[in-house]
Order: sequence, then structure tokens, then C-alpha cells
Amino acid sequence: MDQNYSDVLSSYGRCLLKRGFIERFYELFMASDDSIRALFARTDMSKQTLALRRGISTAISFAEGSGIVRGTIDEMALVHSRKGRVPIQPHLYRHWLESILKAVREYDPAANAKLIARWQQALKPAVDHFIDMY
Ligand code: HEM
Repeated sequence: MDQNYSDVLSSYGRCLLKRGFIERFYELFMASDDSIRALFARTDMSKQTLALRRGISTAISFAEGSGIVRGTIDEMALVHSRKGRVPIQPHLYRHWLESILKAVREYDPAANAKLIARWQQALKPAVDHFIDMY
């Protein structure tokens, strides 16, 4: 592993312990851009909640350099590529990241500027990879 994001994983654990973290993320995320709300118009949000929980932990492991999640992250990126089932234009990822950071600030009592910067670092490689695979 090139990096250790156990501080971010602990923070994620504290967020999930409080009910409603993922739901709050989707609220912020959908409010951030009309085209994002439209993308989820027909989505079963209870399934999507699990997809995001998986997405975040996969993204963190990817940043840690874990080869085990490489296939998973590629599959997720392909779903969101130009030719995928749910194409996501690269400029929208900024909202994804911002909404997670906002939700963490609200839900993790230990959140501070340093920890939020670590979260950003931990999610960036996955976001960059999605954009590369677009
Ligand atoms: C701007 C950013 C993003 C948007 C707007 C977005 C939107 C969506 C939408 C609309 C779906 C499909 C829901 C449905 O089936 O109706 C979806 C599925 C999914 N997304 Fe995203 N997504 C984004 C970023 C990400 C990221 C960064 C990850 C992972 C780190 C991710 C992981 C997934 C997964 C695992 C699924 C389920 C795929 C499946 O059903 O096979 N998404 N996303």
C-alpha cells in the first residue's frame, strides 16, 4: 500500500454510525446541479445508498494503492463513461466530491480542516480515474 487512509476510514465510520449520512449526501448532491437531480429521477434510492457506500470505500482503498479494488473501480468507472449505462460528464465530479465533504463536516464530530483535506486526497484518485476513463 502506498498510502494509509485509516484516519479517513475512521471518519467515514463515525459518519455512518449516525443515521442519515448517505441520505444527506444525496440531498446536497441533488441540490448542487439540476442535471444531477435529473439523472436520479428513476433511481431506486435504497439501492443507490448501498452503491454509494460501496463507492466511497472502494475509492478510499483505491487511493491506498490496493490492487484488489482495481477491477471494481474500473467497472464503476465504465458504468459512468461516455459509452456506459450512466454516462457522467467529467465536470460533474466536482459536485460529487464537494457534497461528500459537506456531509462529512456535518456528520463527523471530529471533522476539521486537516481531516477534510485528507478526505479530498483520499477521493481524488478515484475521481481522476473516472474522468480518465470517460
Ligand atoms: C457526478 C458524479 C456521479 C453521478 C452524477 C452519479 C450518478 C449515478 C447514477 C444516476 C447511477 C444509476 C442509478 C440507477 O441505476 O438508476 C449511478 C450508479 C452508480 N454509481 Fe454513480 N454517480 C457519480 C459518481 C460516482 C462515483 C465517483 C462512484 C464511485 C466511487 C460511483 C459509483 C456508482 C455505483 C457503484 C453505481 C451502481 C452501478 C450499478 O448499478 O451497476 N458513482 N451513479
